[in-house]
Amino acid sequence: MKLFVFPRWANKTRSLAGLLLGATPLYVVGLVWYGASPKTTDVGYMPEQPVPYSHALHVGQLGLDCRYCHNTVEEAAVAAIPATATCMNCHDKVHTESPLLAPVRESHATGQPVAWTKVHDLPDYVYFNHSAHVTRGVGCVSCHGRVDQMEEVYQHEPLSMSWCLECHRNPERHLRPPAEVTNMTWTPPGDPVAYGKTLRETNNINPPTDCSTCHR
Ligand code: HEC
Ligand code: HEC
Ligand code: HEC
Ligand code: HEC
Ligand code: HEC
Repeated sequence: MKLFVFPRWANKTRSLAGLLLGATPLYVVGLVWYGASPKTTDVGYMPEQPVPYSHALHVGQLGLDCRYCHNTVEEAAVAAIPATATCMNCHDKVHTESPLLAPVRESHATGQPVAWTKVHDLPDYVYFNHSAHVTRGVGCVSCHGRVDQMEEVYQHEPLSMSWCLECHRNPERHLRPPAEVTNMTWTPPGDPVAYGKTLRETNNINPPTDCSTCHR
């Protein structure tokens, strides 16, 4: 189904979105279909990486903040993967002979980036934006799980359309003060839904659910 529907979407997103919006019955059928279908997802996807970089070690034990490495996450759509220079801030002094770090040293010497394999990958016809979430107080943990405990990062959530929409319709449980977005162990004071509701009202948070939000 995906292969069949998708190329048309890619080429004519705007007009098709308009058409779908106009054609109400089709739109409703579509929504029910996606909401209910147990789509195959990639939860647990954990590709092998060229360097066994451990978030459990660097975040969980050493206490590095996500933004030390993913430094565009608050300003941009994409969360940058760190450049080799960021690793070398420490690894020109720590474990300088480690065979595990050989690809990092080679990258540093040649200027060729380390060939990390992407873990999360939405289809090209979906628009996602990190800053739109992070600056409004949706924590990394809501979408990526306890990264601070992962030896290797894996996909924690389905990243399906119904998953996105579920939170867009009822975001309360996932809201926190924006200063806490990278904190993996933050818990709300009191009832999560009541607290989220207060935050939602104070910060005027209204995640859109119209098609053009995510398909443009
Ligand atoms: C010292 C640098 C560093 C820090 C700190 C760090 N990361 Fe990463 N992160 C990386 C590198 C390198 C990769 C790519 C390799 C991999 O996937 O393991 C990565 C990959 C990821 C991915 C998967 C990206 C993809 O390909 O889809 C996620 C999600 C992620 N990090 C989230 C976090 C979160 C959340 C935090 C804070 C709790 C964090 N990272 C802290 C270096 C870092
Ligand atoms: C803030 C300093 C710091 C930064 C930045 C950092 N590391 Fe590390 N890393 C460490 C320390 C400290 C250890 C060793 C911990 C130990 O041995 O107890 C380590 C260990 C490692 C190891 C295990 C080495 C071995 O032989 O056991 C790998 C692999 C590694 N880091 C990869 C990376 C990569 C890739 C990056 C960049 C994305 C990175 N590190 C960024 C401090 C850092
Ligand atoms: C609302 C859900 C959500 C939140 C919150 C979120 N992410 Fe992501 N993240 C995603 C999705 C979805 C992707 C895949 C994006 C794509 O393929 O276009 C992704 C991809 C990534 C990637 C791979 C690079 C990229 O942008 O595609 C990194 C690194 C990452 N996230 C880190 C983080 C960090 C660090 C935080 C917290 C500061 C965070 N994310 C918060 C959903 C989220
Ligand atoms: C855990 C909750 C949550 C999940 C999951 C989530 N979102 Fe969001 N999203 C939000 C919140 C909260 C906002 C901010 C709304 C605001 O600023 O009023 C937002 C805003 C956005 C925006 C910006 C809208 C605008 O016009 O300002 C886009 C685009 C978006 N989300 C796409 C996605 C996509 C695509 C997915 C799934 C891959 C997704 N979101 C999953 C909570 C979530
Ligand atoms: C909050 C974000 C969001 C909104 C709003 C949204 N979508 Fe999606 N949509 C997605 C994501 C994410 C996927 C990719 C799902 C996947 O890869 O499993 C998707 C996939 C699709 C697909 C392809 C399905 C397939 O099987 O490949 C169609 C068609 C679609 N959406 C139509 C719509 C229509 C029509 C609307 C408005 C009623 C809409 N979407 C609103 C996030 C959204």
